[in-house]
Amino acid sequence: MTHVLIATTKPFATEAKNNMISIIEQAGFTPHLLESYTSQDDLKKEIANVDAVIIRSDIIDKEIIDAAQNLKIIVRAGAGYDNVDIDAAREKNIVVMNTPGQNANAVAELVFGLLVFFIRGQFTGLAGSELKGKNIGIQAFGNIGKIVAKIAQGFGMKVYAFDPYVSHEKIENEGVVSLETVEELYETCQYVSLHIPATPKTKESINYALLSRMPKNAVLINTARKEVIHEDGVLRLMKERTDFSYISDIAPSQKDAFEADYAGRFFFTPKKLGAQTAEANTNAGIAAANQIIDYITNENTTFQVNK
Ligand code: 3PG
Repeated sequence: MTHVLIATTKPFATEAKNNMISIIEQAGFTPHLLESYTSQDDLKKEIANVDAVIIRSDIIDKEIIDAAQNLKIIVRAGAGYDNVDIDAAREKNIVVMNTPGQNANAVAELVFGLLVFFIRGQFTGLAGSELKGKNIGIQAFGNIGKIVAKIAQGFGMKVYAFDPYVSHEKIENEGVVSLETVEELYETCQYVSLHIPATPKTKESINYALLSRMPKNAVLINTARKEVIHEDGVLRLMKERTDFSYISDIAPSQKDAFEADYAGRFFFTPKKLGAQTAEANTNAGIAAANQIIDYITNENTTFQVNK
């Protein structure tokens, strides 16, 4: 019997969960559910004897991997897998996958939800500004970046992107100006939306030197990871330039410093909610369940990230 654990500190929408459970059962596997757990010990106990696990931003470190006796596959229902120790998994021949693109639309829509809310005075009734005719820069033109571009075009914005891993041709085919350097992106765009993963290379890469190039009334929108931000650099710029603002889906580590001195120039969601829609949960959850079944039955490793 193959046991599949769904372990989420931030539970899936009910509809998504029900779909996942029925897909797992129809494959003849046994589903197990661990939701809203508060200690890694609970996860350790539940993961000990299962063959597969589906997670979201849940932390799967070496300790958890070592506690898993039968684990063959971990699927991160989502895009970023910086929460999984993929090397520790590889050492134990455990396949790690993500479900790229499945929650991209939810994140892209949130970019504009946050941005419109913010530039319209956080809906207080103050006179705000409009997006039409303004420049938006998309840093990383992956699944999310591409949708952000489309929505921005709908708003009548001029759209620029920087992504060294995507060809100029692919970007320009979407009606987006593809820039040569990241510096150009920040110099050109009043709004910059981040869609880079958190890796050792990108960690704290969004720094003072880059941000200080942004034009007047600049807004940085971060629906990626707080780890990519050099927070001291952002705070320095907040102090030096009263026209600079920062909005983010998840508060920075130094949230208190923003609250103390920069009221009205930042907005942080209380909990990471970019992918928290019924649709995104359903898409990513179903993809995760199907990928597990396809790996266990057919050894399909298409979405493996730790080859
Ligand atoms: C992702 O990387 O897919 C998003 O950040 C969503 O994360 P979540 O599943 O924790 O909401």
